[in-house]
Amino acid sequence: MRTALVTGSAGFIGFHLSRLLLDQGWRVVGVDSHNDYYDPALKSAREAWLTPHPQFRALRGTVETPGLLAGLFAAERPDAVIHLAAQAGVRHSIDNPGAYVRANLLGTFELLEAARAHPPAHLLLASTSSVYGANTAMPYRETDKADTQMSFYAATKKSTEAMAHSYAHLFGLPVTMLRFFTVYGPWGRPDMAPWLFTRAILDGSPIRVFNHGAMQRDFTYVADLVQGVARLIDAVPGGVPVGDFDSLSPVAPFRVVNIGNGAPVQLTDFIAAIETATGRTAIRDLQPMQPGDVPATWADTTLLTALTGQSPRTPVTTGVAAYVRWFVAHYGG
Ligand SMILES: NC(=O)c1ccc[n+]([C@@H]2O[C@H](COP(=O)([O-])OP(=O)(O)OC[C@H]3O[C@@H](n4cnc5c(N)ncnc54)[C@H](O)[C@@H]3O)[C@@H](O)[C@H]2O)c1
Repeated sequence: MRTALVTGSAGFIGFHLSRLLLDQGWRVVGVDSHNDYYDPALKSAREAWLTPHPQFRALRGTVETPGLLAGLFAAERPDAVIHLAAQAGVRHSIDNPGAYVRANLLGTFELLEAARAHPPAHLLLASTSSVYGANTAMPYRETDKADTQMSFYAATKKSTEAMAHSYAHLFGLPVTMLRFFTVYGPWGRPDMAPWLFTRAILDGSPIRVFNHGAMQRDFTYVADLVQGVARLIDAVPGGVPVGDFDSLSPVAPFRVVNIGNGAPVQLTDFIAAIETATGRTAIRDLQPMQPGDVPATWADTTLLTALTGQSPRTPVTTGVAAYVRWFVAHYGG
């Protein structure tokens, strides 16, 4: 039985990924700080679904704690490591940049040092579509230059890509950076638009619609996303190059992969899907663009499809319906 170490296992994506890996017969060791960036009760509720599984072990801890991950790697010798623990959120990073330095930069450094001492077969780290920053050429392709981040959150994530590349090169560590595109679905984050919109629409409160609704996001359904991550575990970089995608690094077993739906959706259509699923009409409070935000994201998923044989496809009408069903069941409407 193979062991996967999942950091951020009580988080939105980490929870879904851990469940999938357990279903697939992995042993999963999860680490999470359960911090209060958003309601920790949601993190505990997610973890409560995992802990009864005999092959799941949870550790409560902060990844940047010196030596914590090194000790865990030494004890568990994971075959695959999926690093999702991070301070996420574009807007929060404007007022709280220090939290991003600690969790994202120091946390990733601790992870890389642990992997250097006890190398797993494959190290996969969460990055974000936000690293494409001010790029306007669509869809975003992994080989595009991505050097103009618009938020400090994105800047820390881009930095983790550079840090991981150097360790991949120096120590021969196979590394895949996962650029996730706006993930939504059951158990989703309360700081993200799908949760905020659904809560407000059910309550009859106004929703704040930024850039007057002229926004596009490549919304990705969480079940599709974690399927992609799980399939990528066995697509270890360093073998036969995939087209020009593996030209990103001439010196290291290092790869960057977009995980998105490959189909941008207008924010207004996403809101309409929530209206349909709730049977309520949204009260729209149109607002200007928020600092740090980008007007559109769109993933080129050619590489993901080449590596895994599939890519996310769930349409927002289907995904939002499932999300709203969960929301009403979990929060009582
Ligand atoms: N959800 C998205 O749309 C999206 C998009 C792009 C990238 N990502 C990235 O994917 C990863 C997972 O995101 P998510 O949406 O599941 O977020 P999340 O906040 O729900 O999950 C992150 C988890 O990590 C934990 N954590 C945070 N800082 C920690 C620390 N220093 N030590 C230990 N645990 C810590 C949190 O308690 C949380 O449970 C993050 O790296 C995020 O930046 C997410």
